[in-house]
Amino acid sequence: MENVRVELGPRSYDVRIGSGLLPRLGRFALNLYAGRKGGRAVVIADSTVARLYGKSALASLAAVGFDSRLIRLRAGESSKTLATYGRLLDRLLSFRPPIDRSTLIVGLGGGVTLDMAGFVAATALRGLDFLACPTTLLADTDAAVGGKTAVNHRAGKNLIGVFQQPRGVLIDVDTLKTLPRRQIANGLAECVKHAVIRDERLLAFIESNVPAILACKPAAMTRLIAWNVKIKAAVVSADEREAGERAHLNFGHTIGHAIESAVGYDKIGHGEAVSLGMVAACELAVNRGLLSREDASRVHDLLECLGLPVKRRGLNPAALWRIMLRDKKNRGGKVRMVLPVGLGKAKIVDEITKEEFLLCCVVHGIKIRED
Ligand SMILES: NC(=O)c1ccc[n+]([C@@H]2O[C@H](COP(=O)([O-])OP(=O)(O)OC[C@H]3O[C@@H](n4cnc5c(N)ncnc54)[C@H](O)[C@@H]3O)[C@@H](O)[C@H]2O)c1
Ligand SMILES: [Zn+2]
Repeated sequence: MENVRVELGPRSYDVRIGSGLLPRLGRFALNLYAGRKGGRAVVIADSTVARLYGKSALASLAAVGFDSRLIRLRAGESSKTLATYGRLLDRLLSFRPPIDRSTLIVGLGGGVTLDMAGFVAATALRGLDFLACPTTLLADTDAAVGGKTAVNHRAGKNLIGVFQQPRGVLIDVDTLKTLPRRQIANGLAECVKHAVIRDERLLAFIESNVPAILACKPAAMTRLIAWNVKIKAAVVSADEREAGERAHLNFGHTIGHAIESAVGYDKIGHGEAVSLGMVAACELAVNRGLLSREDASRVHDLLECLGLPVKRRGLNPAALWRIMLRDKKNRGGKVRMVLPVGLGKAKIVDEITKEEFLLCCVVHGIKIRED
């Protein structure tokens, strides 16, 4: 088992990672409240995760004296709405006896569930304690750490939410065994991202453990997740509210988000889009002399080994450019992007030009159509 401390002064918390941890959820929750016996715990999970792990979570909480309940939401991104948020609150506020400020909310599931459950916890009765129990690799390495909660709006993704850190995070790597391969790949894209922007040794670790990682071997996953949580925790500790350094986590995401938006969120996985975005951003970095061709090839080849796409036909780079320009951070017809500076470091570049972007798209195999 590994423990990573997220240092945020009075809001610091532990992330515990290992095999066989879900049955110890109750103990972990109880330890957060030294001396208190039980109380109320409400687990929020989507229908799939509730079916797989709901019983185990509830039993573990009940075993240490929590009066534990479960609220389900429909699985999938389409649940991340104000309407679902309202329904979760309706359920939560209809419990008898009523919940009070000592009620603990446990988010059990992927990023969708954690974003929703975190938002519910942050706002119900002006704020309840929140414990995150991620069950996807993306949530383990990204969504569970950092305190961002959100729901989507028709004007865009994640537009409504608050920053509220959890009281603790419990990651049972055994839950990854039931996760579809495509979801594993989503998380792996974020792992490669962390390696490129912060730690070349993590890149080497992934390179030498591809089979164990793809097979979700508990030892390899514990090490991989702990390493990524450490990186995300360090970035968040330095810049909790994304005033500067936290923006490095957007590496691969400016182009990735444009690809998701152009292709359709239901037609391409987030990790797949970010993989393409990282390959393109590496290409831009090579053109600017920030990254060697060998290093860009290392990233490209690793993504490919992990089963992530590095090329996609049928994308229109000029259309992608127009989507990227919509971001309000961009000025004067140029786009802001995070580029790697060697492997293990990154910087924000404000003035990427359209010509530069189109050129890199040709090199990296996005097929250009007449615009
Ligand atoms: N708050 C943050 O900092 C942050 C960071 C990254 C992403 N996100 C958000 O996270 C969301 C994406 O997260 P996600 O990819 O985890 O999506 P998700 O929560 O929708 O989970 C993906 C699918 O996997 C299923 N699932 C979850 N755990 C499982 C398991 N162990 N076994 C079998 N099936 C399982 C779910 O039911 C769902 O169908 C997006 O909404 C994104 O905006 C938030
Ligand atoms: Zn991402």
